[in-house]
Amino acid sequence: MIRKRTRTRAGGGTPAHGRLRAVLGATTTALLTVTALAALPQTTAHAAGTLGAAAAEKGRYFGAAVAANHLGEAQYAATLNREFSSVTPENEMKWDAVEPNRGSFSFSRADQIVNHARSQGMDVRGHTLVWHSQLPGWVSGLGASDLRSAMNNHITQVMTHYKGEIHSWDVVNEAFQDGGSGARRSSPFQDKLGNGFIEEAFRTARATDPAAKLCYNDYNTDGVNAKSNAVYDMVKDFKSRGVPIDCVGFQSHFNPNSPVPSDYRANLQRFADLGVDVQITELDIEGSGQAQATNYGNVVRACLAVTRCTGITVWGIPDKYSWRSSGTPLLFDDNYNKKPAYDAALSALGGTTDPDDPDDPGTPGAGCTATYTTAEQWGSGYNGKVTITAGSSPITGWSVDVTMTSPQKVLSVWNGSPTWDNSGNVMTVRPSWNGSLAAGASTSFGFTVSGGASPPPQVGACTAS
Ligand code: XIL
Repeated sequence: MIRKRTRTRAGGGTPAHGRLRAVLGATTTALLTVTALAALPQTTAHAAGTLGAAAAEKGRYFGAAVAANHLGEAQYAATLNREFSSVTPENEMKWDAVEPNRGSFSFSRADQIVNHARSQGMDVRGHTLVWHSQLPGWVSGLGASDLRSAMNNHITQVMTHYKGEIHSWDVVNEAFQDGGSGARRSSPFQDKLGNGFIEEAFRTARATDPAAKLCYNDYNTDGVNAKSNAVYDMVKDFKSRGVPIDCVGFQSHFNPNSPVPSDYRANLQRFADLGVDVQITELDIEGSGQAQATNYGNVVRACLAVTRCTGITVWGIPDKYSWRSSGTPLLFDDNYNKKPAYDAALSALGGTTDPDDPDDPGTPGAGCTATYTTAEQWGSGYNGKVTITAGSSPITGWSVDVTMTSPQKVLSVWNGSPTWDNSGNVMTVRPSWNGSLAAGASTSFGFTVSGGASPPPQVGACTAS
């Protein structure tokens, strides 16, 4: 059994630990500004530095799908705990996971996720109660009246186990067909119980946990099309007849064949106008670099433009654990480095990346970004490398400030020409031959430092010309 807690911030809000972290972050920045004044770009004192904190400032949550078997990986847990304010179990609450045999429930893997999330002050999205997929064979084999009671029992048992712990439940998932028909998808529920199974599932869910928001969730409904029209009609009908429904989830799995629709915001808004919240529930966008970053920024801005868009969940943390890993659709690379997509999402939320973070590629679209890595290191020095990447437009020049800590000295610089400030600690590096970059293209310069293998240099923001 999991520990029961009072729900404190369903649908958004700032967790206490997030606020504490924001304060600590601001203090650290202030201290660094004293010691390395010239090196640090301007930071807004209260700008949030993580997805969860930035979303909370907009009254929203920013979540991730989580798999229980990765929670033991230190970097996975650290990234989850630092960045996200909501969690969706990726598979652990599905029917085949929690009721593999009729009437026999196993919650241990889902409990692991819920306990982790709640101990971190995160909200939990429940996913999902009634779905044709990841459905155990015994369910499909039932006759209509048995199936009806199995469905209602499943909803009741699972929601009771997590009562008070879940901010939103995907009560019914993917009940409509793709394509232009607007029809319901064939499934054991649809085929044996007819259209009414959706309404019945929502009524049972409301009776079980009246505090949880009840969502209908689907994919390919992100823009205005025949499928989203059919869902729209159902929600409108539910609202007019008083069938309990609080939210609609838009999975938002995007790739070149299924790009972010141009009417994404308008579609979210028309659902919101029916009197339900809308949530982006399984966001991932295949691609890389600036193009992917632009898409992520657009999705976040679409949600922020719709008052009733209460939160965004990305469908995984690092690319390597994505269900579509070959499309690298997430915000963190395989080593948990923040991708340009991360910066675009954070900056669309009004947050600011930490300028001291060497993994941080900076804010894209702002002309150029600078990323630092230590290429080699030895007892008394190192070779540093700064990669410059143009934003969404081509550039013809760039400059970056690199600050060493005394007594470190720069011995040589290649693929860039330095000028020095009076202290001799700060070099401003401009191109030697490599000033012109196409949109999204990169170059790099390097330098050798003696007088100490640490600390690494402070690399300021890239300025394009
Ligand atoms: C996916 C998971 O990410 C995979 O690990 C699993 O093998 C299949 O399901 N729509 C949904 C999610 O509602 O539950 C699916 O998750 C992705 C599509």
